[in-house]
Amino acid sequence: MLQWYKVDKTSFYERNQIYEVEAGRIRVCIVQYEQGWKAFSRKCPHAGASFVTGWCEGEELVCSYHRHRFNLNTGKGCPGQGDFITIYPTKVENNDLYVGIEKSNSFFGKWFQ
Ligand code: FES
Repeated sequence: MLQWYKVDKTSFYERNQIYEVEAGRIRVCIVQYEQGWKAFSRKCPHAGASFVTGWCEGEELVCSYHRHRFNLNTGKGCPGQGDFITIYPTKVENNDLYVGIEKSNSFFGKWFQ
């Protein structure tokens, strides 16, 4: 089941700039690019760098450390990388951004989400 979390103060966020925000009990990265808002994993799966210093090129997110690229719609890394990121659903209601996080019902999911 999806739980929606409002992200505060997005009207102050610059377009194409990546920010790290809280969504419930986890932290995610968000960006407003040419196709609207996207929310995704905050760390790069290649070597764990933060995506905050990365950027978007078209529909791709680029990690600033070693330039791995990820599709912002599917989360898939470019061919040959063998990695992916999690893409979280977003919605805008009354000019407020919400990020959807899957709520786990398992014991470990409740404590380690
Ligand atoms: S840490 Fe992101 S590409 Fe290496």
